[in-house]
Amino acid sequence: MKNVRRAIGEASRLLRAGGVTYPKRLLRKHDLKDAFDRENYGYLTEGGVAGGYFQWLTLLAANSDARLIVELGNRYGSSTIGLYHGLQKGQRLVTVDTDKDQRYVPKEVFDDKRITFVFGDCLDLKAYLRTGIEIPFDIDILWTDTVHYDEQLRSEWYVYEPLLADEALVVIDDIRVNDKGKFFAEIPFWKRDLAATCHGNGFGVVHYVRPKHERGKSKEERLQEAMLRSAEVWKRRFDELAYSPAALTRRAATLRKEARRENVKKILGKPVVDSINKVRNALRRR
Ligand SMILES: C[S@@+](CC[C@H](N)C(=O)[O-])C[C@H]1O[C@@H](n2cnc3c(N)ncnc32)[C@H](O)[C@@H]1O
Repeated sequence: MKNVRRAIGEASRLLRAGGVTYPKRLLRKHDLKDAFDRENYGYLTEGGVAGGYFQWLTLLAANSDARLIVELGNRYGSSTIGLYHGLQKGQRLVTVDTDKDQRYVPKEVFDDKRITFVFGDCLDLKAYLRTGIEIPFDIDILWTDTVHYDEQLRSEWYVYEPLLADEALVVIDDIRVNDKGKFFAEIPFWKRDLAATCHGNGFGVVHYVRPKHERGKSKEERLQEAMLRSAEVWKRRFDELAYSPAALTRRAATLRKEARRENVKKILGKPVVDSINKVRNALRRR
């Protein structure tokens, strides 16, 4: 993808200039009599510090020359709807989640030939093959919003890096949550946190440029590299969990915490949880 920074700037400018109005047909799976659906509908339609990123993703897809977009983590489907609405004729979107809960995604999105839904763990590249598609290659935009921890983000970067195009945009949600910001701080490429525009919890954008000495590898070599890295991540996880009861307890606690976070979000609403996170992060930094 050639115009990474221009696309970032354009999406941000257009969001500030008025954003996106989604057609009713794309939002019709929200039951406006239900408080939770109403809240999620509001994030898509009104944006703001909790949901500005949905409209930003629409504007990004529409104003980039990306051909292949990959989304990691799509529960409920709001960000998928965002990307879909901006998707151009020649663009493809591959979207992955472990869970089949894309409750807000209307049928027209599932039926659209430009989009493939993959169900499986995004760190297991065989999930693509099981779905009957190739492993995404030369990814122009990698958008990740899965488990909110450093280890997950670090592993995703490790596995997907060989699959990125020579120039690509990596978009990372919630970089101010838990320890996610640690890895973001280490990434050695041009990057910005668009928290003020897109999401108060932190919204990282990274302009990835493959170093010169790593260029020129064949598709097969890069796919093999990614597969090896995926296997390595799984082996490391397995070893940690199989041989260390402490690691197993930690992992279970992490997943419980992640599930709790979602439940609290359902009860209190995203803006309240985002504000709590903001205070916790400020205290942590002191
Ligand atoms: C915060 S939600 C995604 C929200 C969505 N991006 C949005 O903004 O509308 C996180 C999702 O990531 C999924 N997830 C977590 N770990 C994953 C993994 N390793 N592979 C694929 N999906 C994963 C969870 O099942 C959950 O649905």
